[in-house]
Amino acid sequence: MFVPLSRPDITGQEIEAVIDIMKSGILSIGPKVNEFEETIADYVGLKHAVAVNSGTSALHLIVRSLGLEQGQTMLTSSFTFVSSANVAIYEGAIPVFADIEESSLNISPQTLEEALERYAKKGLETDCMNLPPFQPDLFMGVDIFGHPMDWDEIERICERNGLPVIEDSCEALGTVYKDRKAGSFGLAGAFAFYPNKQITTGEGGVIVTNDASIAQMCRSMRNQGRGISENWLEHVRLGYNYRLDELSSAMGLEQMRRIDEILSKRDSAAKRYSELLSRIDGVTVPAIADYVTSLGWFVYVIRLEDSIDRDGFMDYLRDNGVQCRDYFRPVHLQPFYIKQYGYKEGMLPVTERVSRQTVAIPFFSNLSQEEQEYVAETITRAVERSG
Ligand SMILES: Cc1ncc(COP(=O)(O)O)c(C=O)c1O
Repeated sequence: MFVPLSRPDITGQEIEAVIDIMKSGILSIGPKVNEFEETIADYVGLKHAVAVNSGTSALHLIVRSLGLEQGQTMLTSSFTFVSSANVAIYEGAIPVFADIEESSLNISPQTLEEALERYAKKGLETDCMNLPPFQPDLFMGVDIFGHPMDWDEIERICERNGLPVIEDSCEALGTVYKDRKAGSFGLAGAFAFYPNKQITTGEGGVIVTNDASIAQMCRSMRNQGRGISENWLEHVRLGYNYRLDELSSAMGLEQMRRIDEILSKRDSAAKRYSELLSRIDGVTVPAIADYVTSLGWFVYVIRLEDSIDRDGFMDYLRDNGVQCRDYFRPVHLQPFYIKQYGYKEGMLPVTERVSRQTVAIPFFSNLSQEEQEYVAETITRAVERSG
């Protein structure tokens, strides 16, 4: 049996909708992008949504609309996809990191306070950088694998420190924290719609916010810096072509019509995995914090005991048709970050330990019971072999 890591959940509805757009002749800057934006804003419970061509573009425009500048610092997690931190570098700013907590794999109120205190007292010195004591200029919270941060506490700490907050909720569409949807924390949030996400537009992303000026800036910058009049040949600021096309928007709209069904299928698949896998010695299944109202599952990531050789484990899974991936390698230890900023092993002990233990296993809405049982059996055998 072959079980892929992910597979998009596409029905005839999405296919029909995309064909209709092709027939309509309006492939970009049309009605579907507006409809998609309204649907997303309503769903998250915010006033504005600005659709763009990727989650990275969404985060970049948020950071830029807040005026993050050359030489400033943005505090975020290192246990994330690289673009969370890269968007600060696009603006000449320096990404600095807080460690995560073991259970949610997110920055916690405690690890946030520790990082703020450390940077305020000692600054940051590496082989290629010497930052005197500082307070970060921006905090980007990440809801990793769809699991929310403890947002009430996080927002309180940031407010007390006068630290502006944004949310990388790219992996958390549908997640609810104490009755508030992910994406609605801080000044603005971002979602991503790559095919392994809860919903997909092929490539795509969206900025969500209650702040009209952030929305307006993002709208202008995604469209080559055109002003409100959208005069085609007038560019009032530096812009980009980050537009989401009509085909992608139509597909996203159909996916959003099925969002409850999609999330419910993902939830059932996650519960089934937790039941099957928690019986296996040496394997830890994802923990869900008490403050989570519901989880918009993005991926299913297990942790292996240190005694299990992860490379051998993953090779065995792959040799037996079970795709898997070592999500995530810490951002601060990516070759580019080591070279550019002199970051080193030992700076973020929990992030580094966790990232040596994690394995993402096949997870998608239409994962069948048979496929899940096969994955669980293969994992059992892989663990036994390593013992
Ligand atoms: C946490 C996080 N942030 C940002 C992104 C970037 O999204 P995209 O790949 O659409 O640019 C991703 C995508 O995987 C992500 O997981």
